[in-house]
Amino acid sequence: MAEDTKKKIQKLCEQINFHAQRYYELDDPLIADPEYDLLFQELLRLEELHPKLVTPDSPTQRVGGKPLAEFHTVGHTHPMLSLENAFNETELHDFEERLQRFLKTEHSLSYMAEPKLDGLAVELVYEKGLLSIGSTRGDGRTGEEITRNLKTIRSIPLRLSATENIQIPELLEVRGEAYLSLQGFTALNEQRLAAGDTIFANPRNAAAGSLRQLDSKITARRPLDFFAYGISDTGQIPCSSQEELLDYLDKLGFSINPLTKFCGDISMVIEHFSHLQNIRQTLPYDIDGMVVKVNSFELQNRLGSKARSPRWAIAAKFAATQATTILRDVEFQVGRTGAITPVAILDPVNVGGVVVSRATLHNSGEVNRKGLMIGDQVLIQRAGDVIPEIVKPVVEQRDGSEKDIRMPGSCPVCQHRLILPENEAITRCPNSHCQAQRMRLLIHFTSKAGMDIEGLGKKAMELLFNEKIVQDIPDIYGLKVSDLVLLEGWAEKSARNAIAAIENSRETTLARLLSALGIRYVGEEGAGLLDEHYGGSLENLIGASEEELLEIEGIGPQTAKSINNYFQDPDVITMLKQLMDFGFTITSSIKNPKESPFAGFVFLFTGSLDAMSRDEAKVRVKERGGKVASQISRKVTHVVVGDKPGSKLKKARELGLKILTEKDLAELLAGNDDTPNNTQLSMF
Ligand code: IVH
Repeated sequence: MAEDTKKKIQKLCEQINFHAQRYYELDDPLIADPEYDLLFQELLRLEELHPKLVTPDSPTQRVGGKPLAEFHTVGHTHPMLSLENAFNETELHDFEERLQRFLKTEHSLSYMAEPKLDGLAVELVYEKGLLSIGSTRGDGRTGEEITRNLKTIRSIPLRLSATENIQIPELLEVRGEAYLSLQGFTALNEQRLAAGDTIFANPRNAAAGSLRQLDSKITARRPLDFFAYGISDTGQIPCSSQEELLDYLDKLGFSINPLTKFCGDISMVIEHFSHLQNIRQTLPYDIDGMVVKVNSFELQNRLGSKARSPRWAIAAKFAATQATTILRDVEFQVGRTGAITPVAILDPVNVGGVVVSRATLHNSGEVNRKGLMIGDQVLIQRAGDVIPEIVKPVVEQRDGSEKDIRMPGSCPVCQHRLILPENEAITRCPNSHCQAQRMRLLIHFTSKAGMDIEGLGKKAMELLFNEKIVQDIPDIYGLKVSDLVLLEGWAEKSARNAIAAIENSRETTLARLLSALGIRYVGEEGAGLLDEHYGGSLENLIGASEEELLEIEGIGPQTAKSINNYFQDPDVITMLKQLMDFGFTITSSIKNPKESPFAGFVFLFTGSLDAMSRDEAKVRVKERGGKVASQISRKVTHVVVGDKPGSKLKKARELGLKILTEKDLAELLAGNDDTPNNTQLSMF
C-alpha cells in the first residue's frame, strides 16, 4: 500500500515538474491551468496523509511553509567577493594590461562576457545533488539563510538533473543572481499601489525585498527568477574554464543567461559590451553592465584575489544616467578622522530609477574645481551601484541669485578651528574629542566594515551616543540588556540578540580589530597586511617602530607614521587595555600556520623576474605564509635576484643574506627545499 502511494506521489511529482517546465520555462503549456491545479492538489492531499513520503524536491516544497520568526546567518565556505569597475573601453584595455603584467605574458587572453544583472547575489548549496541551503551574499563571509524563499523560484533546481552521464558532485556551491523581470516589477508595484502599500524604487530593491520575506508564501507570489554564473570552488567540478562551467551548470538544470559570450580577445569583449549597451532597453530585465571573466581556471587561480575582488574579473559598467536638479544647500559633515566633507542638498530627482537628494562634494578643492554655487541648476549622474555625483553646474541657467559656497572656519559641531594641512585636499577638525568624530568612530566600530556587530547599526549607535550610554569603544562591551530595553524601538529580544552579538565579537582577528579602530590610512587591506606581518599579535604591533612598519611591503611612510602615532597615544593604550579586560581574544586572520611552509621567511625582491611577474611571485610567497619586505634589513631571510638587480643586492651581500635566483625561488615554491644555504650563487 505504502509502495503504491509512494509510486503515485513520484508520478505526480514528475507530471507536475514536466508541466511546470512547459508553462514557466518554455511558455508552451500542454494542459490548462485547472488541470495543473488538480494534479497539484492531489499531490498536496497525498503528502498531507503521508508526510514521511514528502521528498525535499517535491514541487509542493516550492510554496513555502509557516513564516519564520527571523533569518539565521550562514557562513560561505569561500568568500563571495565583489568586482572592480571599468567605465570605458580604455579601462577594459587597462584591465587586460594588468592581467598580462601579472601573468608576465604578451599573449592576448580569452574571456567570458556575461550580462551583469541588477538583482541579488545568492549562493545555493547542493549536497548529493539536493538543494540544502540558499543564502544571500551578506558581507561576503556570512549571509542570511533564505533557503525556503529561494526554493520558491522555479528556475532554481531543487535537485540537480543527472543528464548526459554527468556525475552529480557530493557538494556544489552555485552562485548566481536572483532577479525580478521588468514586467514582474511593474505588476508588483501596480498591486502594491492598489493595496495602498509603498512601491519599490527599482527591480533590485523589489527582488531584495521579496527574498527577505519571513513568510515564504509572499516570496512565492513574486515572479522572481535566477541565472547561475559561478561556483564557490572550481575544484568541485570537472571543468577547466568558465565556458565549460556554464555549460556544465546548464546541464545540471540551471538557467544560464543566453547573452553570455565567449570572447577570444579583448576587442571581442568590447564589441559585445557595445552590443549589450545597444539592446539593453529591449531586454526583459535590468542590466547595469557586463561582467568580464578570464576564461581559463588555471589563469584565474594564478591571478587569485585581492581583499575584496578577484584579479581575474571586472564589471564593465554602462555609461551613467544623468538628470538635472537644483543645488539647494551645502551641509558640512564631520567624519571619524575629523575630515570635513561638504554634502550637496538637492531637490530630490530620479536618476536612472533611484531618487537622489544628497551627493557628496568630497572636499573644498572639488567644490572650487566644479565651480558650484548654491541655487545652481546642476547635472547629476549615477552609474550602476556607484554613488551619485554632481558633474557640473548649468552655468547658462544662472540668474544672479546664486550664492558662493563657503567652507566653514570652525567645526560645525565642536567649533574648534579647522585646519587645512599643507599639500592636503581635506580640511579637518583637529579636536579628537569632537563629539561628531567620536560618534562617527563608534558607528564605524560596530559597522560591517568594523567589528560587524549585528543590531548595532548606525541608528542604534547614534541613539546610544546621544543618550550618553556609549561614549567610548569600551562602553559597548559594558552594555547590558537592561540598558538597551529602555531605549526607544528596542524590545527584550532584540536587546538580547545585540548583547550576544557584542559578546561574540570579542573573539576576533587582528585584521578586523584594526579595521574597526579606524586608524587613519589603515583600511581593510592595510589591516590585513599588519595582521599577516605580526601573526595576529596586537602587542608586537603596538611595540613596532615607524622604521619597522615601513619594512612591511604595502605600508607606505604616511601609513607607518599614522600607525605609530596612534599607538603612542596613552588614551589609545588605556582603551585597548580596557578591551582586553573585557575578555578580547585576538588571533590572526591568516590561515593555519601548518599550511605555511614559508612561515618565518621574509623575502625581498630585486631586479625583474623572467617567468613570473614580481606581483605574482609576491602573492605565491604570501600564500605559503612567507612575508615580503620592501627594504633590506637583517630580518630579510631570502633575497630573490632577477635581471638588472639594484643596490639591494650589494647590501644583501654585505649583510651575508641568503641569495636566490628565480629558478631557486621556483623550486622553493614547488616544494623542493634544497636551495643552497647561505651561499652566494656563482653567477653573482
Ligand atoms: S561574478 C568573484 N558574474 O555583480 C566574482 N557577478 O560586484 C563576483 N553580478 O554581487 C561575481 N552578474 O551579484 C558575477 N555574471 C555575473 C554577474 C555578477 C551580476 C553581480 C553579483 C555581484 C556583483 C559583483
